[in-house]
Amino acid sequence: MTVEKIPLADVKLGEEEVAAVTAVLQSGWLSMGPRTQEFERQFASFLGAKHAFAVTNGTAALHLACEILDLKPGDEVLCPALTFVATANAILYTGARPVFVDVNGPHDLNFSAADAAGKITPRTKAIMVVHYAGYPCDMEAITRLARKRGLHVIEDCAHAPGAIHPSPQGPQKVGTIGNVGCFSFFANKNLVTGEGGMVVTADQHLAEKIRTRRSHGMTTLTWDRHKGHSFSYDVVTPGYNYRLDEIRASLGLVQLSRLEASNARRRHLTRLYREKLADLPQIHLPFQSISLEYSTCHLFPILLAAGADRSRFMEHLSSRGIQTSIHYPPIPGFSYYQRLWPEGYEHGLPHTNEIASRLVSLPLFPTMTEKQLDLVVESIKVFFTS
Ligand SMILES: Cc1ncc(COP(=O)(O)O)c(C=O)c1O
Repeated sequence: MTVEKIPLADVKLGEEEVAAVTAVLQSGWLSMGPRTQEFERQFASFLGAKHAFAVTNGTAALHLACEILDLKPGDEVLCPALTFVATANAILYTGARPVFVDVNGPHDLNFSAADAAGKITPRTKAIMVVHYAGYPCDMEAITRLARKRGLHVIEDCAHAPGAIHPSPQGPQKVGTIGNVGCFSFFANKNLVTGEGGMVVTADQHLAEKIRTRRSHGMTTLTWDRHKGHSFSYDVVTPGYNYRLDEIRASLGLVQLSRLEASNARRRHLTRLYREKLADLPQIHLPFQSISLEYSTCHLFPILLAAGADRSRFMEHLSSRGIQTSIHYPPIPGFSYYQRLWPEGYEHGLPHTNEIASRLVSLPLFPTMTEKQLDLVVESIKVFFTS
């Protein structure tokens, strides 16, 4: 018997992407140029952001955000423990120290503003939140706390291009609420370019800092000089080569035109999962109080009952061709982070520690069929009844 393979995530690129990349190859201009500028313009317009800068990946976006907010050794930045390690690594690059914040609880795996409030010290300079799995954090509480304590807010929106914060002033796309928003276009994200990212801000001064630091602190780009707009350049600050290229920007433009539809499909599949898993007492579904309309449904995380054998559950699904994953092993548990803070960083994270061994992500991607979803649900039911 052949078992149908259902991956955790899948990307299908079509003729439009092939045509867009071919056009770049035929144009003879590969490094950052007009397509990247157009991708930035359209991405900013999609979000309602003032300034957007395309970069090589989401980690570079986060690093630039930390840099332009002048984070340095001795500073502390509040960030979730339940996230991909890039979130905290970007803080470490500046010499600042990540201070890990708990999740709200099994019902809401996002950053807890209440826990963050208790972890602020005179050294705290910023809050870096992650809109986990595409569900918006409570930005009302987070920005209130930041304003009260004079802290910057960085939004890690790697899972959430198009997620909405339903503020009392009206809906706002995440990434435009804090001082800086950072996106990833890694190959399994909602908008993919292979590797790629974007930094957005409403602040003109920060925008100028991003622009120059993205490209070695230089005042002009190779493209400007190619077009004859300038002949030389100055270097006004230390910087990096975090530029995106035209091939990936052209992919980004096509992907952006599909983003609303593919996010809608993810929402539909999430709704189906929820309906079909609702009668299983062995599984808890987080984020039920957040309207799916606000989410980009990047992941479908579930929580098994306390004490459940997660490995056996994942192996059972794997034996039926279904790939699952864990988002995420909490960062303080990694040996490098334990070496950095041998006093034990996992203290003060009761909810994160409690749910960490119960988390499993089920397959979710826009081209997933309802038949595939039914197969996942049926396989889960078999596990609990056999
Ligand atoms: C929450 C989160 N932050 C940051 C990143 C880093 O993005 P990238 O892989 O594009 O560097 C990722 C993705 O991989 C992520 O999931």
